[in-house]
Amino acid sequence: MDVSKFIQEKFEEIKMAVESEKAISALSGGVDSATCTVLAHRAIGDNLKVIFIDDGLMREDEPQEVSKIFTDIGIKVDIVNAQEKFFNALKRKTDPEEKRKAFRDIFYTVFGEEVLKSGARFLVQGTIAADVIETKGGVKTQHNILEQIGIDTEKGYGFKLVEPLKDLFKPEVREVARELGLPESIHQRMPFPGPGLATRVVGEVTPERVSLVRKATQIVEEEIAHLKPFQAFAVLLCDKGTGVEKGQRKFGHIIIIRSVESKDAMTAEPTKIPWEVLMQISKRMTTEIPDVVRVAYEITPKPPATIEYI
Ligand code: XMP
Repeated sequence: MDVSKFIQEKFEEIKMAVESEKAISALSGGVDSATCTVLAHRAIGDNLKVIFIDDGLMREDEPQEVSKIFTDIGIKVDIVNAQEKFFNALKRKTDPEEKRKAFRDIFYTVFGEEVLKSGARFLVQGTIAADVIETKGGVKTQHNILEQIGIDTEKGYGFKLVEPLKDLFKPEVREVARELGLPESIHQRMPFPGPGLATRVVGEVTPERVSLVRKATQIVEEEIAHLKPFQAFAVLLCDKGTGVEKGQRKFGHIIIIRSVESKDAMTAEPTKIPWEVLMQISKRMTTEIPDVVRVAYEITPKPPATIEYI
């Protein structure tokens, strides 16, 4: 791929599509949304409003970190606190597809409200080729796939979509991000799914369960960073297991460590994590997160498993 030609073409396409109207972009911190936000900002400047929807499902300090990275490169980001709305939408839902659809609906409802307030008619979104292929193929409902499955965004939510990255796979998006001058913390960022930590909580997604998986994710990321896996994180199961503390029985949570190597997320292999690293993660989880009594490393490739748990 000729990266600078691609960028030039997308500048022109975005300018032509949006003309002198306003557009809005929802930054999630992931490389896809960051890249399309910078592309659109360079194409239409201040006619692009950038928001970060704080859905309560992000990693530790993510909203602040992402907003700082963008402020540093001259793009203002408004953080919209919508945590309560997302947790209400996910309440009592345990089926994975039901959770994904509930996330998608509340995401675009909150977004629709922001679009109305901003007067924007276009939504710039970082959909990539793998998202389209997997949703259309019936693997799972990726939250950002709308038009491709027949959802009319103008009728349903009041905006038109602009998706400059929809023909690219992850490695190409990283190249574009680098060429656009985004820092390494963005262009080499581990993929993080739109529905965030909700994809790593099996069963009901509550603020307490998300907070637990957030702490566990931070431990995995810290201990595994030097191995530079494609993606690594923690998962909270809804089953529990028995443990023992100070001679007393304790029935507590089970955390799964998931770490995979992949090029484009369409297939993946488990990371060969050294034993000492696994033991260190297990020790930290059970001492730093009091309700965790068991930690397991999951070694299923994709396929047959998917990378995320829902
Ligand atoms: P799976 O779990 O399907 O994930 O093997 C493949 C890649 O996609 C990410 N992923 C998502 N990204 N919205 C996104 O933007 C989603 O709904 C979504 N679901 C999964 C996942 O993290 C992995 O990199």
